Amino acid sequence: MKTMKPKILVTREVFDDVLEYLSKYFEVASNQSDQPMESETLAVKLSDKQGAMITLSEKIDATLLARCPNLKAVCNIAVGYNNIDIEACRKAGVMATNTPGVLDDTTGDFTWTLILATARRLTEAEAYLRAGQWDKWKLKQFLGLDVHHATLGIFGLGRIGQVVARRATGFEMKVIYHDVHRVVPEIEQASHARFVSKEELLSQADIVTIHVPYSPATHHLIGKSELERMKPTAILINASRGGVVDDAALIEALRSGTIAGAGLDVFENEPKFNPEFLGLKNVVLAPHIASSSKATRHKMAMLAAENLVAALTTGKPPNLLNPV
Ligand code: DGY
Repeated sequence: MKTMKPKILVTREVFDDVLEYLSKYFEVASNQSDQPMESETLAVKLSDKQGAMITLSEKIDATLLARCPNLKAVCNIAVGYNNIDIEACRKAGVMATNTPGVLDDTTGDFTWTLILATARRLTEAEAYLRAGQWDKWKLKQFLGLDVHHATLGIFGLGRIGQVVARRATGFEMKVIYHDVHRVVPEIEQASHARFVSKEELLSQADIVTIHVPYSPATHHLIGKSELERMKPTAILINASRGGVVDDAALIEALRSGTIAGAGLDVFENEPKFNPEFLGLKNVVLAPHIASSSKATRHKMAMLAAENLVAALTTGKPPNLLNPV
């Protein structure tokens, strides 16, 4: 008699070859229409599944887990996992995994996209040109901030923060960082980064960039008082998670000239971000695409799939977040 394959749910659209790979091991239900599911729909669809491949749009908490008695593994297609209540998963005996490592370079590259575009006011200048307003060359047109030889302040010298730091060498920058713990000397040397206090970072940096995970400890890490400590000529870059920055405070700081500009890939309550950002010229906005190169998004999806296969076949997924 043919043995039944475990049932899994893929909550959002993924690449065809990833689905094919999963189909070798599982009976796959997938949401290739890509409409994000309301929590009720998710609970119904997951109620008879043993595994789920999810994205940061799906919230996994105790309420949902209570309705999914067969669930053994939830595998995030993301390195950040603030959408998953890890402790609730542990209590429910559900393995949770993420996708570390595969997106560091791509996210680091995009951080630099935001740094350069914000410092040199690229989206503002492009909007002016597209609107047909460019009638003459002007000496004082769209004067920006020099990135070369500037001081780069990095919050969080983890894998992505280190990539960003290493890329700064090409711009001959001074790199300072702050983190909950000072990193080992080898990493500081490879990153050419000097550990400083939060206050020193904010007051010294010309460019402040954030690379910390979101958690209650990092909620509003950058708020009104932090923005006030920054130089009025400085820019803030966030390609980490919404909620690490107090968006209302940032909007006020951008409006009043407390800081010169911001480059943002992530927002509080995204995708329903604060619409007041749209009225500001000194902000470069992106829809959470820092890891979105073809190669990297594919690697993320495949790694999540491999985590799920390992979780349900061996009980030992490589990127387990809640070892028991
Ligand atoms: C992550 O992996 O956490 C990213 O934010 C999703 O691209």
